Amino acid sequence: MNPDTRILASLRAAGEAGISGAALAKDLGVSRAAVWSRIEELRKAGYDIEASPHHGYQLRSSPDRLHADDLLARLGPGKIIGRDVQVFQETASTNDVVEKMARDLVREGIVVFAESQTRGRGRLGRQWISPSGKGLWFSVLLRPQLPPAAATQLTVVSAVAVARGIERHTGLKPEIKWPNDIVFGTRKVAGILLELGAELDHIRHVVLGIGIDVNLDADEMPEELRAIATSLRIEGGRTFDRSDLAATVLTELDAAYGRLRRGDFHEISDEWMRRCSTLGQRVTIRMADRVVVGRAESLNEDGALLVRTDHGRLEHIIGGDVSLAKGPTP
Ligand code: BTN
Repeated sequence: MNPDTRILASLRAAGEAGISGAALAKDLGVSRAAVWSRIEELRKAGYDIEASPHHGYQLRSSPDRLHADDLLARLGPGKIIGRDVQVFQETASTNDVVEKMARDLVREGIVVFAESQTRGRGRLGRQWISPSGKGLWFSVLLRPQLPPAAATQLTVVSAVAVARGIERHTGLKPEIKWPNDIVFGTRKVAGILLELGAELDHIRHVVLGIGIDVNLDADEMPEELRAIATSLRIEGGRTFDRSDLAATVLTELDAAYGRLRRGDFHEISDEWMRRCSTLGQRVTIRMADRVVVGRAESLNEDGALLVRTDHGRLEHIIGGDVSLAKGPTP
């Protein structure tokens, strides 16, 4: 842990009680003057740190700005996802930054955030609007030991972790729309874009891109999206702390990824099914080369959606665009 990460972790752990400069200096193995100068830098970055003779240093508030050291401090040690964090003020797409890292053989688990993206992208070649300071736009580098066919499992793992993280932080209860949209009713609040580097028989790396609309107001969304998109602020009626939410989602993601690595995918897929608003519905799924209409029945062990068509055939769907189909199931 670097000094700022340790200082922020100690300040948070101390809470109202505060922590003395001497204790921080001892913990970091540096002088009290060195602690003071790091505290000054954190104040310049927007952290309100009070110093008093009785309580030492107390963290009063944190800025609404993502800060790599702060995110690392909130995550704590021992994680795969979030073992390293980088924050860009602006980038084209965090998925591109992480894709380059994957080619440079960076270890799995690094997370790259951007306050804004100029060319954020969604599934099926769509644009992903990523205004500055309003959401969480980030990508994670993974190197799972899975055959390419099981990559859909990661979609399920990510959707469950994002839904859980949102629920834990906000108290709101989002649902999952297959394959990995996080929704409130018919409006989407978060999306997941999985990009794969794979050989025929194994996955080299996965870039897992996640976008969460946190503090956008309806009038900050493009008009054409207002009927189909929402934000946590719109749903919850208040703004949310993006750094805290980011740490909560990454903690859930790390835990769910750990379960997948231990071979406990079924635990996650059970939860996915409980949270999924698509199951049991009559759906239309548009894929690049065909359209399937039928009843969404369940999920298989690879994370594929099983759809019973009107002809009684069971289709394994691994990707596509789902909408509710009109008319009763025959
Ligand atoms: C979707 O639902 O269509 C997926 C949206 C994924 C958006 C995120 S934001 C961070 C990362 N970088 C991108 O360019 N896209 C993903």
